[in-house]
Amino acid sequence: MKIIAVANQKGGVGKTTTTVNLAACLAEAGRNVLVIDLDPQANASSSLGVPVVDGRSLFGILTEEEGTRSLAEQIQPTPWDRLSVITAELDLAGCEIQLAADAHRLTRLRRVLDNYRASQPATEFILLDCPPSLGVLMTNALAAADSVLVPLQCEYLALEGLAKILEMIERIKQVSGNTSLALEGVVLTMYDARTNLSHEVVNSVRGHLGNKVFETIIPRSVRLGEAPSHGKTILAYDSSGAGAQSYRELAREFLNRQG
Ligand SMILES: Nc1ncnc2c1ncn2[C@@H]1O[C@H](COP(=O)(O)OP(=O)(O)OP(=O)(O)O)[C@@H](O)[C@H]1O
Ligand SMILES: [Mg+2]
Repeated sequence: MKIIAVANQKGGVGKTTTTVNLAACLAEAGRNVLVIDLDPQANASSSLGVPVVDGRSLFGILTEEEGTRSLAEQIQPTPWDRLSVITAELDLAGCEIQLAADAHRLTRLRRVLDNYRASQPATEFILLDCPPSLGVLMTNALAAADSVLVPLQCEYLALEGLAKILEMIERIKQVSGNTSLALEGVVLTMYDARTNLSHEVVNSVRGHLGNKVFETIIPRSVRLGEAPSHGKTILAYDSSGAGAQSYRELAREFLNRQG
């Protein structure tokens, strides 16, 4: 079982789109995948067509609420084979306050996921969809993950953003004691082949990080933007389009890199 945090403290760069569609493509390729939605906005949950319901999230587990469901009991099926989800809810935002005074607050998710791993579940990959803020939820995700996947939008100042996220990953590695946290890779998103800027961003990010940047580039695609409002992954919404093809390609590359 491998736990991958999909993180970037910048908002709107394609974290949720990448989490949901990479997960869907890994499931299509025969893998057992669990998405954990750690963003109180619950975009990953609704993108997977699973309703957001009070009490169905990691809130109770993270705040060690009395009589709360276990992690395994929080897992819900999605309409797609081999793809399940732990949904988010607005209450998750309360973790920031509830956990503020707790010395173990950074590693709570890690302890819960370690227990889950020890139960030898069929799950092969867990994708953690992180919120854009640099708070307790994102810290818990990075403290619990084996690796971090960074979606990076092909836009002006992308390199500055990249430097910031890499620096932040290093900091969280130190404070949470998760020193083996690896960089799974950087995925370039919302690429527009018609602009010089997109080319320049790809070249400069590759120049800095070399093979840590996935070969696969996710194009800007209207369909990718539309699919969530239908509660569908891109495979269900527009299976043969460019967006679906790019995420399938990303999943293939991701699996090849696992060796
Ligand atoms: N490749 C793409 N082409 C077109 N639209 C996209 C693409 N990727 C994401 N989008 C759209 O851009 C918006 C932001 O994407 P997404 O929600 O995945 O980003 P995020 O990093 O998860 O945002 P947040 O930080 O708010 O959680 C969404 O409306 C999404 O549908
Ligand atoms: Mg998101």
